Amino acid sequence: MSELLLEATDLARHYTVSRGLFKPKATVKALNGVSFTLAARKTLAVVGESGCGKSTLARQLTLIEPPTRGALKIRGVDTASADVKALRRDVQMVFQNPFASLNPRKTVETTLAEPLLINTTMTTLERRERVAALAAKVGLRPEHLRRYPHMFSGGQRQRIAIARAMILNPGIVVADEPVSALDVSIQAQILNLFMDLQDEFGTGYVFISHNLSVVEHVADEVMVMYLGAAVEVGDKKTLFAQPLHPYTRALMSATPALRKADRRERIVIHGELPSPLNPPSGCSFHKRCPLAVPRCSEEVPQLREVDGRRVACHVVG
Ligand SMILES: Nc1ncnc2c1ncn2[C@@H]1O[C@H](COP(=O)(O)OP(=O)(O)O)[C@@H](O)[C@H]1O
Ligand SMILES: [Mg+2]
Repeated sequence: MSELLLEATDLARHYTVSRGLFKPKATVKALNGVSFTLAARKTLAVVGESGCGKSTLARQLTLIEPPTRGALKIRGVDTASADVKALRRDVQMVFQNPFASLNPRKTVETTLAEPLLINTTMTTLERRERVAALAAKVGLRPEHLRRYPHMFSGGQRQRIAIARAMILNPGIVVADEPVSALDVSIQAQILNLFMDLQDEFGTGYVFISHNLSVVEHVADEVMVMYLGAAVEVGDKKTLFAQPLHPYTRALMSATPALRKADRRERIVIHGELPSPLNPPSGCSFHKRCPLAVPRCSEEVPQLREVDGRRVACHVVG
């Protein structure tokens, strides 16, 4: 059994938003109760359309915001009762846009050494050695350390951002769409870098992506989200071999590379993602679902075990 790094139980984050001067405030249920675990050396991929709550989940896991409801444990420690500052060091984040996430006025060396300066008692020489060693592992050359972010391509910048996330050797890295802003030709290199670093350091990843081809490349487990909730969760092989939730199946049939090998009938969803300000009754997917029955508009489906994965659907299984 490998060590449990993350345990999320019914994790939720709601936001109060103003709808105008004379209207009552409304609640956006951006994240509305997800539960999962993450073990060392494993990658949980979180997938779903824009607006389904992926980045909100990332902010909960990296302790940027406290949850509205539910519990989060990091290495068995409840984040509600513990010293969050000490835990933060163990959960680092890689963002989508490496152009925005690096300080343009700092050299690569300064950017990478800073967390060591703040969080450790390492000497200048020790810091320099640690930075040089990790920079080499992420594919940077020694002369790159003296340069500034604008002198690098997007892929190289993401290598720098990944090195910065890994410099304190965190147990967990949350990567929010880390290859979505990169050229397709560069994406595989960066994904492989993530996987090499995981092999070497045993890091657990929560890897957020809207792209199922990316998810298939990196994931051990997959959580499919829709409107703030998980609709299907399970082992990658199980989910890709036989997706059950109509939303998972629709996502897969919308990915050409996955569709080729797929002999299942195609599921096409119509309509927009509903607003989390005004979610549909019952199953939040029922208005777009080709399989919906009357019960789906009345009763919220809970995740239940079907064929080796968990799925929230009244109809399948
Ligand atoms: N700080 C906030 N205040 C109000 N609404 C928010 C806030 N952050 C996110 N939301 C809303 O929550 C929903 C989920 O957003 P987000 O987590 O960014 O989704 P994703 O990353 O999957 O695209 C969206 O409807 C978004 O508009
Ligand atoms: Mg996002």
